[in-house]
Amino acid sequence: MAKSKTVFFCQNCGNESAKWVGKCPSCNEWNTYVEEVVSKSTSTGAASRDFTFEKSKPVNLKETEITEADARTSSEIGELDRVLGGGIVGGSLTLVGGEPGIGKSTLLLQMALKQKGKVLYVSGEESVQQIKMRADRIGNTPDHCFLYAETALSEVLKQADALSPDILIVDSIQTLHSDRIEASIGSISQVKECTGQLMKFAKQRNVPIFLIGHVNKDGAIAGPKVLEHMVDTVLQFEGDRHLSYRILRTVKNRFGSTSELGIFEMNTKGLREVTNPSEVLISPREAGLSGISLGATLEGNRTLILETQGLVSPSSYGNPQRSTTGYDYKRLTMLLAVMEKRLGVRLSSQDVFLNIAGGIKVQDTALDLSICASIFSSFEDAPISDDVCFAGEVGLGGEIRPVGRIESRINEAEKLGFKEIYISKHNLKSKDLAQFKISVKSFSKLSDLFQQIF
Ligand code: TYD
Ligand code: MG
Repeated sequence: MAKSKTVFFCQNCGNESAKWVGKCPSCNEWNTYVEEVVSKSTSTGAASRDFTFEKSKPVNLKETEITEADARTSSEIGELDRVLGGGIVGGSLTLVGGEPGIGKSTLLLQMALKQKGKVLYVSGEESVQQIKMRADRIGNTPDHCFLYAETALSEVLKQADALSPDILIVDSIQTLHSDRIEASIGSISQVKECTGQLMKFAKQRNVPIFLIGHVNKDGAIAGPKVLEHMVDTVLQFEGDRHLSYRILRTVKNRFGSTSELGIFEMNTKGLREVTNPSEVLISPREAGLSGISLGATLEGNRTLILETQGLVSPSSYGNPQRSTTGYDYKRLTMLLAVMEKRLGVRLSSQDVFLNIAGGIKVQDTALDLSICASIFSSFEDAPISDDVCFAGEVGLGGEIRPVGRIESRINEAEKLGFKEIYISKHNLKSKDLAQFKISVKSFSKLSDLFQQIF
Protein backbone atom coordinates (compact mmCIF):
# COMPACT_ATOMS: atom_id res chain seq x y z
CA MET A 1 0.00 0.00 0.00
CA ALA A 2 1.23 3.45 -0.86
CA LYS A 3 2.20 5.61 2.02
CA SER A 4 -0.05 8.64 1.96
CA LYS A 5 1.64 12.00 2.16
CA THR A 6 -0.16 15.05 3.42
CA VAL A 7 0.66 18.61 2.59
CA PHE A 8 -0.86 21.84 3.84
CA PHE A 9 -2.16 24.34 1.29
CA CYS A 10 -3.14 27.95 1.79
CA GLN A 11 -6.72 28.14 0.56
CA ASN A 12 -6.25 31.75 -0.39
CA CYS A 13 -3.15 31.72 -2.57
CA GLY A 14 -2.31 28.04 -2.97
CA ASN A 15 1.03 28.23 -1.17
CA GLU A 16 2.31 24.83 -0.05
CA SER A 17 3.83 23.91 3.30
CA ALA A 18 4.98 20.67 4.91
CA LYS A 19 3.52 21.67 8.27
CA TRP A 20 0.61 23.75 9.45
CA VAL A 21 1.25 27.47 9.79
CA GLY A 22 -1.06 30.11 11.20
CA LYS A 23 -0.10 32.92 8.90
CA CYS A 24 0.61 32.33 5.26
CA PRO A 25 4.14 33.58 4.46
CA SER A 26 3.10 34.22 0.88
CA CYS A 27 -0.18 36.16 1.11
CA ASN A 28 -0.15 37.02 4.84
CA GLU A 29 -3.65 35.66 5.44
CA TRP A 30 -4.37 33.99 8.77
CA ASN A 31 -5.81 30.49 9.31
CA THR A 32 -5.98 29.57 5.67
CA TYR A 33 -3.96 26.33 5.78
CA VAL A 34 -5.82 23.08 5.20
CA GLU A 35 -4.33 19.61 5.17
CA GLU A 36 -4.70 17.66 1.93
CA VAL A 37 -3.66 14.15 1.00
CA VAL A 38 -1.55 14.24 -2.13
CA SER A 39 -0.18 10.73 -2.39
CA LYS A 40 -0.27 9.20 -5.82
CA SER A 41 -2.90 6.53 -6.07
CA THR A 42 -1.02 3.35 -6.99
CA SER A 43 -3.81 0.81 -7.06
CA THR A 44 -3.77 -0.85 -10.46
CA GLY A 45 -7.45 -0.06 -11.00
CA ALA A 46 -6.81 3.66 -10.96
CA ALA A 47 -3.78 3.39 -13.22
CA SER A 48 -5.64 1.51 -15.92
CA ARG A 49 -8.49 4.02 -15.82
CA ASP A 50 -6.11 6.90 -16.24
CA PHE A 51 -5.69 8.76 -19.50
CA THR A 52 -2.22 8.42 -20.98
CA PHE A 53 -0.55 11.27 -22.79
CA GLU A 54 1.72 10.76 -25.76
CA LYS A 55 5.39 11.40 -25.21
CA SER A 56 6.65 14.43 -27.08
CA LYS A 57 10.08 15.11 -28.55
CA PRO A 58 12.14 18.28 -29.00
CA VAL A 59 11.59 19.94 -32.36
CA ASN A 60 13.79 22.21 -34.39
CA LEU A 61 12.49 25.79 -34.32
CA LYS A 62 13.40 26.26 -37.97
CA GLU A 63 11.32 23.32 -39.02
CA THR A 64 8.34 24.27 -36.92
CA GLU A 65 5.49 25.33 -39.12
CA ILE A 66 2.58 27.46 -38.16
CA THR A 67 -0.51 25.81 -39.52
CA GLU A 68 -3.86 27.38 -40.11
CA ALA A 69 -5.12 25.76 -36.95
CA ASP A 70 -2.73 27.91 -34.93
CA ALA A 71 -4.28 31.13 -36.12
CA ARG A 72 -6.94 32.82 -34.06
CA THR A 73 -10.51 31.78 -34.61
CA SER A 74 -13.44 33.93 -33.72
CA SER A 75 -15.56 32.99 -30.72
CA GLU A 76 -18.47 34.51 -32.67
CA ILE A 77 -19.06 36.84 -29.75
CA GLY A 78 -17.44 40.19 -30.50
CA GLU A 79 -17.01 41.31 -26.91
CA LEU A 80 -15.41 37.97 -25.99
CA ASP A 81 -13.03 38.19 -28.95
CA ARG A 82 -12.06 41.64 -27.76
CA VAL A 83 -11.01 40.53 -24.29
CA LEU A 84 -9.24 37.48 -25.68
CA GLY A 85 -7.09 39.83 -27.75
CA GLY A 86 -8.74 39.18 -31.10
CA GLY A 87 -10.07 35.62 -30.98
CA ILE A 88 -9.38 32.17 -29.64
CA VAL A 89 -5.77 30.97 -29.97
CA GLY A 90 -5.31 27.30 -30.85
CA GLY A 91 -4.22 25.16 -27.89
CA SER A 92 -4.80 27.94 -25.36
CA LEU A 93 -6.16 27.45 -21.88
CA THR A 94 -8.52 30.18 -20.74
CA LEU A 95 -9.93 30.51 -17.24
CA VAL A 96 -13.21 32.37 -16.82
CA GLY A 97 -13.78 33.37 -13.21
CA GLY A 98 -16.69 35.04 -11.50
CA GLU A 99 -19.12 34.86 -8.63
CA PRO A 100 -21.91 32.28 -8.68
CA GLY A 101 -24.88 33.34 -10.79
CA ILE A 102 -23.02 36.04 -12.69
CA GLY A 103 -23.41 34.25 -16.03
CA LYS A 104 -20.23 32.24 -16.68
CA SER A 105 -22.06 29.11 -17.82
CA THR A 106 -24.42 31.20 -19.93
CA LEU A 107 -21.55 33.00 -21.67
CA LEU A 108 -19.66 29.85 -22.58
CA LEU A 109 -22.76 27.94 -23.58
CA GLN A 110 -23.74 30.84 -25.78
CA MET A 111 -20.31 30.73 -27.39
CA ALA A 112 -20.65 26.96 -27.87
CA LEU A 113 -24.02 27.38 -29.58
CA LYS A 114 -22.59 29.89 -32.05
CA GLN A 115 -19.67 27.73 -33.18
CA LYS A 116 -19.61 26.17 -36.59
CA GLY A 117 -17.04 23.60 -35.48
CA LYS A 118 -17.38 20.80 -32.97
CA VAL A 119 -17.69 21.77 -29.31
CA LEU A 120 -17.61 19.57 -26.23
CA TYR A 121 -19.26 21.13 -23.19
CA VAL A 122 -18.37 19.20 -20.04
CA SER A 123 -20.44 19.99 -17.00
CA GLY A 124 -19.95 18.73 -13.50
CA GLU A 125 -22.56 21.11 -12.15
CA GLU A 126 -25.67 20.63 -14.25
CA SER A 127 -27.29 17.67 -15.91
CA VAL A 128 -27.52 17.38 -19.68
CA GLN A 129 -31.27 18.14 -19.49
CA GLN A 130 -30.69 21.31 -17.52
CA ILE A 131 -28.13 22.53 -20.03
CA LYS A 132 -30.46 21.67 -22.89
CA MET A 133 -33.21 23.75 -21.29
CA ARG A 134 -30.88 26.69 -20.98
CA ALA A 135 -29.63 26.24 -24.55
CA ASP A 136 -33.22 26.27 -25.84
CA ARG A 137 -33.74 29.57 -24.11
CA ILE A 138 -30.61 31.09 -25.58
CA GLY A 139 -30.91 30.13 -29.22
CA ASN A 140 -30.70 27.56 -31.94
CA THR A 141 -29.09 24.24 -31.27
CA PRO A 142 -26.30 23.63 -33.78
CA ASP A 143 -25.34 20.20 -35.13
CA HIS A 144 -21.96 19.79 -33.50
CA CYS A 145 -22.44 20.73 -29.88
CA PHE A 146 -21.91 17.84 -27.48
CA LEU A 147 -22.81 17.86 -23.82
CA TYR A 148 -21.14 15.61 -21.29
CA ALA A 149 -22.00 15.48 -17.61
CA GLU A 150 -18.94 13.99 -15.93
CA THR A 151 -16.55 14.82 -13.13
CA ALA A 152 -13.77 12.27 -13.64
CA LEU A 153 -10.94 13.95 -15.50
CA SER A 154 -9.65 10.75 -17.09
CA GLU A 155 -13.08 10.11 -18.63
CA VAL A 156 -13.33 13.69 -19.83
CA LEU A 157 -9.92 13.45 -21.50
CA LYS A 158 -10.75 10.10 -23.08
CA GLN A 159 -14.00 11.40 -24.53
CA ALA A 160 -12.36 14.61 -25.69
CA ASP A 161 -9.66 12.50 -27.33
CA ALA A 162 -12.22 10.34 -29.13
CA LEU A 163 -14.42 13.24 -30.20
CA SER A 164 -11.57 15.66 -31.01
CA PRO A 165 -13.63 18.84 -30.64
CA ASP A 166 -12.53 22.24 -31.92
CA ILE A 167 -13.26 23.73 -28.51
CA LEU A 168 -13.49 22.09 -25.10
CA ILE A 169 -15.41 23.81 -22.31
CA VAL A 170 -15.19 22.63 -18.69
CA ASP A 171 -17.81 23.86 -16.23
CA SER A 172 -16.28 24.03 -13.64
CA ILE A 173 -12.66 23.16 -12.82
CA GLN A 174 -13.57 22.79 -9.13
CA THR A 175 -15.89 19.86 -9.87
CA LEU A 176 -13.29 17.75 -11.69
CA HIS A 177 -11.17 15.12 -10.01
CA SER A 178 -8.20 13.12 -11.12
CA ASP A 179 -7.52 9.54 -10.01
CA ARG A 180 -3.82 10.26 -9.91
CA ILE A 181 -4.02 11.91 -6.53
CA GLU A 182 -6.19 11.25 -3.54
CA ALA A 183 -7.15 14.75 -2.46
CA SER A 184 -10.84 15.60 -2.27
CA ILE A 185 -12.77 17.33 -5.07
CA GLY A 186 -12.32 21.07 -5.16
CA SER A 187 -9.16 21.03 -3.03
CA ILE A 188 -6.18 23.02 -4.19
CA SER A 189 -4.15 19.98 -5.14
CA GLN A 190 -7.00 18.48 -7.19
CA VAL A 191 -7.68 21.72 -9.01
CA LYS A 192 -3.97 22.12 -9.71
CA GLU A 193 -3.59 18.57 -10.94
CA CYS A 194 -6.64 18.74 -13.20
CA THR A 195 -5.62 22.09 -14.66
CA GLY A 196 -2.14 20.73 -15.31
CA GLN A 197 -3.48 17.75 -17.21
CA LEU A 198 -5.93 19.87 -19.19
CA MET A 199 -3.10 22.24 -20.09
CA LYS A 200 -1.08 19.30 -21.38
CA PHE A 201 -4.05 18.10 -23.39
CA ALA A 202 -4.68 21.55 -24.87
CA LYS A 203 -1.07 21.91 -26.01
CA GLN A 204 -0.69 18.38 -27.34
CA ARG A 205 -3.92 18.27 -29.33
CA ASN A 206 -3.96 21.97 -30.12
CA VAL A 207 -7.49 22.28 -28.72
CA PRO A 208 -8.46 25.54 -27.04
CA ILE A 209 -9.93 24.85 -23.61
CA PHE A 210 -12.14 27.15 -21.55
CA LEU A 211 -12.34 26.50 -17.82
CA ILE A 212 -14.92 28.01 -15.55
CA GLY A 213 -13.62 28.78 -12.08
CA HIS A 214 -15.51 29.90 -9.02
CA VAL A 215 -14.42 32.90 -7.13
CA ASN A 216 -13.99 33.10 -3.37
CA LYS A 217 -15.23 35.88 -1.16
CA ASP A 218 -12.26 38.14 -1.81
CA GLY A 219 -12.77 38.02 -5.54
CA ALA A 220 -9.80 35.76 -6.21
CA ILE A 221 -10.45 32.70 -8.32
CA ALA A 222 -11.10 30.13 -5.64
CA GLY A 223 -7.94 29.16 -3.93
CA PRO A 224 -5.95 29.05 -7.00
CA LYS A 225 -3.91 32.10 -7.59
CA VAL A 226 -1.83 29.12 -8.63
CA LEU A 227 -4.28 28.56 -11.46
CA GLU A 228 -3.62 32.05 -12.73
CA HIS A 229 0.03 31.15 -13.20
CA MET A 230 -0.77 27.95 -15.02
CA VAL A 231 -3.28 29.09 -17.62
CA ASP A 232 -2.69 31.31 -20.65
CA THR A 233 -5.55 33.72 -20.17
CA VAL A 234 -7.66 34.70 -17.17
CA LEU A 235 -10.95 36.46 -17.73
CA GLN A 236 -12.96 37.84 -14.86
CA PHE A 237 -16.71 38.18 -15.20
CA GLU A 238 -18.03 40.79 -12.84
CA GLY A 239 -20.96 43.05 -12.17
CA ASP A 240 -23.79 43.45 -9.75
CA ARG A 241 -26.00 40.38 -9.84
CA HIS A 242 -29.04 42.56 -9.31
CA LEU A 243 -28.23 44.83 -12.23
CA SER A 244 -28.29 43.47 -15.73
CA TYR A 245 -24.84 44.70 -16.85
CA ARG A 246 -21.89 42.36 -16.81
CA ILE A 247 -18.29 43.26 -17.41
CA LEU A 248 -15.78 40.79 -18.75
CA ARG A 249 -12.26 41.85 -17.91
CA THR A 250 -8.88 40.45 -18.93
CA VAL A 251 -6.76 39.79 -15.85
CA LYS A 252 -3.95 37.97 -17.62
CA ASN A 253 -3.38 37.30 -21.29
CA ARG A 254 -0.37 35.64 -22.87
CA PHE A 255 -1.73 36.57 -26.30
CA GLY A 256 -2.92 40.12 -25.92
CA SER A 257 -3.47 43.21 -23.84
CA THR A 258 -4.82 43.00 -20.30
CA SER A 259 -6.65 46.27 -20.30
CA GLU A 260 -9.54 45.14 -22.45
CA LEU A 261 -13.13 45.19 -21.34
CA GLY A 262 -16.22 43.50 -22.72
CA ILE A 263 -19.69 44.59 -21.73
CA PHE A 264 -22.80 42.44 -21.77
CA GLU A 265 -26.38 42.73 -20.70
CA MET A 266 -28.19 39.74 -19.20
CA ASN A 267 -31.73 39.36 -20.46
CA THR A 268 -34.22 36.54 -20.83
CA LYS A 269 -32.42 35.21 -23.90
CA GLY A 270 -28.99 35.06 -22.35
CA LEU A 271 -26.24 37.65 -22.70
CA ARG A 272 -26.49 40.46 -25.19
CA GLU A 273 -23.37 42.29 -26.33
CA VAL A 274 -23.32 45.97 -25.53
CA THR A 275 -21.38 47.65 -28.31
CA ASN A 276 -22.11 51.26 -27.35
CA PRO A 277 -21.44 51.14 -23.60
CA SER A 278 -21.47 54.87 -22.98
CA GLU A 279 -25.12 55.05 -23.91
CA VAL A 280 -26.10 52.52 -21.28
CA LEU A 281 -23.67 53.72 -18.63
CA ILE A 282 -24.89 57.30 -18.67
CA SER A 283 -28.28 57.35 -17.07
CA PRO A 284 -30.76 60.08 -17.81
CA ARG A 285 -30.67 62.45 -14.89
CA GLU A 286 -32.79 65.12 -13.27
CA ALA A 287 -31.85 68.59 -14.37
CA GLY A 288 -30.23 70.72 -11.73
CA LEU A 289 -28.66 67.92 -9.69
CA SER A 290 -25.30 68.93 -8.31
CA GLY A 291 -22.30 66.65 -7.86
CA ILE A 292 -22.59 64.84 -11.17
CA SER A 293 -20.19 65.21 -14.03
CA LEU A 294 -19.06 63.17 -17.03
CA GLY A 295 -15.56 62.15 -17.96
CA ALA A 296 -14.07 60.46 -21.01
CA THR A 297 -11.93 57.50 -20.02
CA LEU A 298 -10.09 54.81 -21.94
CA GLU A 299 -10.40 51.12 -21.17
CA GLY A 300 -8.09 49.20 -23.44
CA ASN A 301 -8.87 50.33 -26.94
CA ARG A 302 -12.25 51.75 -26.23
CA THR A 303 -13.43 55.09 -24.96
CA LEU A 304 -16.13 55.21 -22.34
CA ILE A 305 -17.95 58.25 -21.11
CA LEU A 306 -18.53 57.64 -17.42
CA GLU A 307 -20.56 59.44 -14.83
CA THR A 308 -18.64 60.48 -11.72
CA GLN A 309 -20.76 61.34 -8.72
CA GLY A 310 -19.44 63.29 -5.79
CA LEU A 311 -21.13 64.09 -2.52
CA VAL A 312 -19.67 66.58 -0.08
CA SER A 313 -21.36 67.11 3.26
CA PRO A 314 -20.24 68.66 6.55
CA SER A 315 -18.57 66.11 8.76
CA SER A 316 -20.05 65.48 12.18
CA TYR A 317 -16.86 63.88 13.50
CA GLY A 318 -13.35 65.16 13.98
CA ASN A 319 -12.07 62.83 11.31
CA PRO A 320 -13.92 63.48 8.07
CA GLN A 321 -14.77 60.40 6.02
CA ARG A 322 -13.64 59.71 2.50
CA SER A 323 -15.15 56.87 0.58
CA THR A 324 -14.81 55.72 -3.04
CA THR A 325 -16.52 53.16 -5.22
CA GLY A 326 -14.78 52.19 -8.45
CA TYR A 327 -11.86 54.56 -7.95
CA ASP A 328 -8.52 54.56 -6.14
CA TYR A 329 -8.93 55.86 -2.59
CA LYS A 330 -5.45 57.35 -2.40
CA ARG A 331 -5.87 59.22 -5.64
CA LEU A 332 -9.09 60.74 -4.35
CA THR A 333 -7.37 62.01 -1.19
CA MET A 334 -4.65 63.48 -3.41
CA LEU A 335 -7.19 65.30 -5.57
CA LEU A 336 -8.92 66.61 -2.44
CA ALA A 337 -5.59 67.93 -1.12
CA VAL A 338 -4.90 69.64 -4.46
CA MET A 339 -8.32 71.30 -4.41
CA GLU A 340 -7.87 72.39 -0.81
CA LYS A 341 -4.44 73.89 -1.40
CA ARG A 342 -4.77 75.30 -4.91
CA LEU A 343 -8.40 76.35 -4.99
CA GLY A 344 -8.82 77.11 -1.30
CA VAL A 345 -11.85 74.82 -1.00
CA ARG A 346 -12.27 73.86 2.66
CA LEU A 347 -12.71 70.12 2.22
CA SER A 348 -10.89 69.05 5.36
CA SER A 349 -14.02 69.57 7.43
CA GLN A 350 -16.25 67.74 4.96
CA ASP A 351 -17.11 64.11 4.33
CA VAL A 352 -16.48 63.24 0.69
CA PHE A 353 -18.03 60.33 -1.17
CA LEU A 354 -17.14 59.42 -4.72
CA ASN A 355 -18.91 56.94 -6.93
CA ILE A 356 -18.19 55.87 -10.50
CA ALA A 357 -21.62 54.97 -11.81
CA GLY A 358 -22.28 51.67 -13.56
CA GLY A 359 -20.13 49.46 -11.33
CA ILE A 360 -16.97 50.06 -13.37
CA LYS A 361 -13.56 50.33 -11.76
CA VAL A 362 -11.32 52.88 -13.44
CA GLN A 363 -7.62 53.62 -13.29
CA ASP A 364 -7.37 56.12 -16.09
CA THR A 365 -6.13 59.42 -14.64
CA ALA A 366 -8.00 61.32 -17.35
CA LEU A 367 -11.03 61.03 -15.11
CA ASP A 368 -9.37 63.34 -12.52
CA LEU A 369 -10.86 66.45 -14.04
CA SER A 370 -14.38 65.08 -13.99
CA ILE A 371 -13.95 63.91 -10.41
CA CYS A 372 -12.73 67.33 -9.26
CA ALA A 373 -15.62 68.94 -11.10
CA SER A 374 -18.22 66.70 -9.48
CA ILE A 375 -16.79 67.27 -5.99
CA PHE A 376 -16.61 71.00 -6.52
CA SER A 377 -20.13 70.97 -7.93
CA SER A 378 -21.44 69.19 -4.86
CA PHE A 379 -19.51 71.44 -2.50
CA GLU A 380 -20.90 74.58 -4.11
CA ASP A 381 -24.25 72.90 -4.78
CA ALA A 382 -23.96 74.18 -8.33
CA PRO A 383 -25.02 71.70 -11.03
CA ILE A 384 -22.96 71.12 -14.16
CA SER A 385 -24.81 71.17 -17.46
CA ASP A 386 -25.43 67.65 -18.78
CA ASP A 387 -24.06 68.40 -22.22
CA VAL A 388 -20.47 68.97 -21.12
CA CYS A 389 -17.79 66.42 -20.50
CA PHE A 390 -14.20 66.39 -19.20
CA ALA A 391 -10.91 64.70 -20.03
CA GLY A 392 -7.76 65.67 -18.19
CA GLU A 393 -5.35 64.67 -15.48
CA VAL A 394 -4.91 66.92 -12.46
CA GLY A 395 -1.37 67.51 -11.22
CA LEU A 396 -0.22 68.40 -7.72
CA GLY A 397 0.13 72.04 -8.64
CA GLY A 398 -3.52 72.27 -9.61
CA GLU A 399 -2.55 72.21 -13.27
CA ILE A 400 -4.50 70.29 -15.89
CA ARG A 401 -2.21 67.81 -17.56
CA PRO A 402 -2.58 66.34 -21.03
CA VAL A 403 -3.91 62.81 -21.51
CA GLY A 404 -3.31 60.18 -24.18
CA ARG A 405 -5.45 59.58 -27.26
CA ILE A 406 -7.38 62.81 -26.86
CA GLU A 407 -8.91 62.54 -30.34
CA SER A 408 -10.74 59.33 -29.54
CA ARG A 409 -12.10 60.88 -26.35
CA ILE A 410 -13.31 63.96 -28.19
CA ASN A 411 -14.76 61.75 -30.90
CA GLU A 412 -16.74 59.69 -28.43
CA ALA A 413 -18.08 62.80 -26.72
CA GLU A 414 -19.09 64.21 -30.09
CA LYS A 415 -20.74 60.94 -31.11
CA LEU A 416 -22.84 60.96 -27.95
CA GLY A 417 -24.07 64.46 -28.64
CA PHE A 418 -22.16 66.48 -26.05
CA LYS A 419 -21.83 70.17 -26.85
CA GLU A 420 -18.59 70.93 -25.00
CA ILE A 421 -15.53 69.05 -23.82
CA TYR A 422 -12.94 70.49 -21.42
CA ILE A 423 -9.36 69.33 -21.86
CA SER A 424 -5.81 70.39 -21.02
CA LYS A 425 -4.21 73.24 -22.96
CA HIS A 426 -1.20 71.02 -23.60
CA ASN A 427 -3.34 68.55 -25.49
CA LEU A 428 -3.96 71.18 -28.14
CA LYS A 429 -0.44 71.11 -29.56
CA SER A 430 -0.35 69.80 -33.10
CA LYS A 431 -3.97 68.73 -32.93
CA ASP A 432 -6.36 69.66 -35.65
CA LEU A 433 -9.51 70.59 -33.81
CA ALA A 434 -11.31 72.00 -36.82
CA GLN A 435 -12.44 68.47 -37.67
CA PHE A 436 -14.67 68.32 -34.59
CA LYS A 437 -18.13 69.78 -34.42
CA ILE A 438 -18.11 69.67 -30.63
CA SER A 439 -16.69 72.77 -28.97
CA VAL A 440 -13.32 71.91 -27.42
CA LYS A 441 -12.28 74.20 -24.56
CA SER A 442 -8.82 74.00 -23.10
CA PHE A 443 -7.42 75.22 -19.80
CA SER A 444 -4.10 74.95 -18.09
CA LYS A 445 -5.23 75.51 -14.50
CA LEU A 446 -8.05 73.98 -12.50
CA SER A 447 -8.87 77.37 -10.94
CA ASP A 448 -9.41 79.01 -14.35
CA LEU A 449 -11.62 76.17 -15.50
CA PHE A 450 -13.82 76.29 -12.41
CA GLN A 451 -14.12 80.06 -12.63
CA GLN A 452 -15.48 79.60 -16.12
CA ILE A 453 -18.03 76.85 -15.44
CA PHE A 454 -19.28 77.66 -11.95
P1 TYD B 1 -25.19 31.24 -14.90
O1 TYD B 1 -24.61 31.26 -16.26
O2 TYD B 1 -25.80 29.97 -14.44
O3 TYD B 1 -24.16 31.74 -13.83
P2 TYD B 1 -22.82 31.03 -13.32
O4 TYD B 1 -22.50 29.91 -14.22
O5 TYD B 1 -21.82 32.15 -13.37
O6 TYD B 1 -23.08 30.61 -11.91
O7 TYD B 1 -26.24 32.43 -14.89
C1 TYD B 1 -27.25 32.38 -14.02
C2 TYD B 1 -28.07 33.63 -13.97
O8 TYD B 1 -28.38 34.18 -15.21
C3 TYD B 1 -29.34 33.22 -13.33
O9 TYD B 1 -29.55 34.03 -12.20
C4 TYD B 1 -30.38 33.40 -14.37
C5 TYD B 1 -29.77 34.35 -15.35
N1 TYD B 1 -30.18 34.11 -16.74
C6 TYD B 1 -30.97 35.03 -17.38
O10 TYD B 1 -31.36 36.04 -16.81
N2 TYD B 1 -31.33 34.82 -18.69
C7 TYD B 1 -30.93 33.72 -19.38
O11 TYD B 1 -31.28 33.56 -20.56
C8 TYD B 1 -30.12 32.77 -18.69
C9 TYD B 1 -29.65 31.54 -19.40
C10 TYD B 1 -29.75 33.01 -17.39
MG1 MG C 1 -22.57 27.86 -13.79
